[in-house]
Amino acid sequence: MVQQKTRMRKTNPLAIVAGCGGGSMTVRGSIIDAIGSTPLIELSRICRGPGRIFAKAEFLNPGGSMKDRAALQIVCDAEADGRLAAGQTVVEMTSGNMGAGLAVVCAASGHPFLAVMSRGNSPARRVQMEALGAEVMLVDQVDGTPGRVTGSDIAAAVARAKAITRERGGFYVDQFNNASGVRAHETGTGAEIWEQTGGQLDAFVCVVGTGATLVGVGRFLRSQSDRVKIYAVEPARSRPLAGFAVESPQHVLQGTSYGSIPPHFAGFRADGHLAVMDEEALRCQRDLGRLEGIFVGPSSAANVCAAAKLAASAELGLAPTIVTLLCDTGLKYV
Ligand SMILES: Cc1ncc(COP(=O)(O)O)c(C=O)c1O
Repeated sequence: MVQQKTRMRKTNPLAIVAGCGGGSMTVRGSIIDAIGSTPLIELSRICRGPGRIFAKAEFLNPGGSMKDRAALQIVCDAEADGRLAAGQTVVEMTSGNMGAGLAVVCAASGHPFLAVMSRGNSPARRVQMEALGAEVMLVDQVDGTPGRVTGSDIAAAVARAKAITRERGGFYVDQFNNASGVRAHETGTGAEIWEQTGGQLDAFVCVVGTGATLVGVGRFLRSQSDRVKIYAVEPARSRPLAGFAVESPQHVLQGTSYGSIPPHFAGFRADGHLAVMDEEALRCQRDLGRLEGIFVGPSSAANVCAAAKLAASAELGLAPTIVTLLCDTGLKYV
């Protein structure tokens, strides 16, 4: 087995590694071992300073999003405490990313996987899950339109997923209520961000779907320092987390902001709230591709857009270090 150790930057974690590549070249036992340990990338063309923005490249996970981490933790925990038996079918309602993560994990661990998804999510997601051996069931939209999935669309898909779980005697993942998802980001993503920055960050900025990512990362960072501020990002016309009535349930940030406060977020207090308009997110998505060489989805772009607004606002001082997340690959939206 050939192994090349990761190049560590112990003295100044935020110093950029010059030259080609900075990652490790380890051999992994299975695709499951390739989940997590994603790079933190400085976006120095989008944010020319003062201040610095670093983005955790979660789109590099095997299923193409940060949901791989939650999928893995949920399956491991359920197997460990006997809720999921060997070979038992796993069922979940998904906007596609949790489904892709579960499809990866289930394929590699021998569980059949059934994904229930709103017809409003992009077809590329169905293609990916089916290629990974999943059975995909599509549910008609209630009040959304293709590319704009609402809370009612999600509720319809959840109802179908629960019914099919009963019929098949499956294990229902229940990502909106499953605490393992939060733990994956607390012990994984949050701890990695802390290590990669050497604790030298002022804020973490993130969109909210189930809230597992923001709450998990937020918990870990707060356990290390009360200096780091946690900001929740929402579409400008749907901001229930910030305490505003929902003007429009439709927006382009697929996988996030379903017009109500998700259970994981209920007991959590963000330090601040940031709003992003659809057009701003889509412009930032193009900028990420053209200026930084990074092709990601609209929620990732919303994160970066919100981080840039925060850096420019001077709310955190004149030159803050802000960390955000690149949630998934743009290939999921074609
Ligand atoms: C593209 C995308 N961005 C952001 C999120 C939000 O992540 P979380 O559910 O951890 O809040 C999701 C969730 O599925 C997603 O698919």
